[in-house]
Formats: sequence, C-alpha cells, structure tokens
Amino acid sequence: MNLIRRPRRNRRTENIRRLVRENQIRIDDLIMPLFVKEGNAIREPIPSMPGIFRFSPDELLKECKEIYQLGIPAVVIFPAIPEEKKDPLAKESYNPDGLYPTVLKMIKDHIPELTIITDVAMDPYNSDGHDGVVRNGEIINDETLEILGKMALVQAKAGADIIAPSDMMDGRVAYLRNILDSEGFTNVGILSYTAKYASSFYGPFRDALDSAPKFGDKKTYQMDPANRREALLELDLDIEEGADMVMVKPGLPYLDIVREFSEHSPVPVAVYNVSGEYAMIKAAAQNGWLDYKKCVMEIMLSFKRAGADMILTYHAKEVAQWLNE
Ligand code: PBG
Repeated sequence: MNLIRRPRRNRRTENIRRLVRENQIRIDDLIMPLFVKEGNAIREPIPSMPGIFRFSPDELLKECKEIYQLGIPAVVIFPAIPEEKKDPLAKESYNPDGLYPTVLKMIKDHIPELTIITDVAMDPYNSDGHDGVVRNGEIINDETLEILGKMALVQAKAGADIIAPSDMMDGRVAYLRNILDSEGFTNVGILSYTAKYASSFYGPFRDALDSAPKFGDKKTYQMDPANRREALLELDLDIEEGADMVMVKPGLPYLDIVREFSEHSPVPVAVYNVSGEYAMIKAAAQNGWLDYKKCVMEIMLSFKRAGADMILTYHAKEVAQWLNE
C-alpha cells in the first residue's frame, strides 16, 4: 500500500516513543491529601479507602517526613473532629489551640520546606455536616464567609503556606484575600476549589471525616455536574478575586473542565483525584480485575494531558515511590 502517513513509525520502539511522548508525570506535580485525628500512635484504616489512614499527630508527622523524603512538594491536611466538638457554627474551626492549628505548627517546625495546604470549609466541624451556616434548611452565604475568614487566619498564623477554600460560597476568595492581607499574611497563597461539583464521588472522604451532611445535599453551593459554562464563570470570578491557583474537582469525570481551565486560566490549574476515584481503582485491583500500577499511572497521565499542573491524589505516595524506582 502506498501510504504517505504511517503514524505507527513513531511508535515503533520504546526509545522513539520516549522521544515523541507529549506528557510526563513528575513527582513535582503531586500533592498528597492526609487525614488527622486526636490521639497518639494511631493509624486508623479507612475501610472505603484501602491504604489510607486517619493519623494521630505523631504518626502524621512520620508520614509527612516520608512524603517529604520522597520528594513530594506538598500535602493537604483534613481534620477528623469528634462529634462532641462540632456545633452549628463550627467554632472549633477557629480555635487557635485546636487539633488542626496545633498539627500545622508541629509539621512546620519539623519539616519547614514541606508545603502545607490547608482546607478552609466548615463541614469537618459543623454539626449539620454542611460547608456553610444552616438556617431553616438554607445555607447562608455571607455569614459563612465570616467563619471561613476566622478559620483561614488561624491557619495562616499556624504556618499554612497555602489555604484552600473548598466550601463553594460566593465571594470567598476576595473575602479571604482581604483578611489575610489586612493581617499581614500577604505571602499566604490561595488555592481555590474553583469548579467543585456536587459529586457522588466524595463518599469515602465523608466516611473518613464522618462529615456527611445531616440533611439534604450540597447542590445549592457545589456545582451541577451537567454544567461547563458555569465553571468558566467561577474561573473568571476566582481570578478577579485574587486566587493564586485554581482547582477542578473531581478529576476523571471532569477532564473536559480541566482542559477548559488549562486553556483559559492565567494561573496554575490543580485537579483533585477524589476519594471515590481512589476507591474504585483500589477495589478493582483488589479483585484482580486490573493492573493497579499501570492504571494509576495512566490516570495520572490523563490529568497531565488534560492540562493540569498539579494533582491532588491519594495515590501520590505510591506514584512517587514508583517514579523513584
Ligand atoms: C469538603 C470537602 C470534600 C472533599 C474535600 N473537601 C467533600 C465534600 O464536599 O463533601 C472531598 C475530597 C474527596 O472526596 O477526596 N469541604
């Protein structure tokens, strides 16, 4: 056959494939999410997330040291708060002596170069399980901002490098930027959960923190999975309001949104490969239904190909170990 174009020529050997490869996953791209709870010497497995634990502060520090030694640039930390410390106004979230700020200080003291990204949202501390203040079944936007502001400030004082609001209230990036700046924290960055969808893939995370909403769902603040254009509005707003980095969440079912952001965002784009995505692949691998390592690496590559600069993933430690091999 007289074929001028034979694309297979560029796939013929591994070394040619290396030359023409368009995307790579690097340890530099990875952010490891971690869960912390009160106590000592605890590594509590999370049944719906095999291989992921709730760590007591001492164990979390050990884990952070390993992560840092693997070359992973950043961690994002989520607290599991006992039910008796939750209330409708999430007061524990801005207690300067609470578990979370204490743990941030400890990690900063011991591993100052490890970038700490903190979560700003009410749900781990809210007896209603929502990301905002609830009144008569409604989530009240502007009152929530005041609580998020106090929370962010406590985190910045404790040593957060980057704060990451995951609440999806309107106007929160501008509100938080203003509070941080007025208190002298001009160097603390904001990674906004810009396009966070009302997804069913957060189930295992809510098991980990026992943070599922006590009534209803999060559809009045998290985005409708059907919408693309709306994500671009959120992107415009977050850029205007001063976000340093933007995020799409979940990852795999929203690669089209990652692509949109990578084309339209003037700031770096993160993607969150969420708990349900992790659980799916772990479960299939445990059943012997797919090759865990190869599938995870293919998924990581899909995020890079879609245009993500950074990947929050529960696979981060394993991926770093494989890349170091
Ligand atoms: C809540 C928050 C959630 C996740 C990160 N921050 C869950 C939710 O919105 O209910 C989910 C992360 C994951 O599933 O891995 N502020």
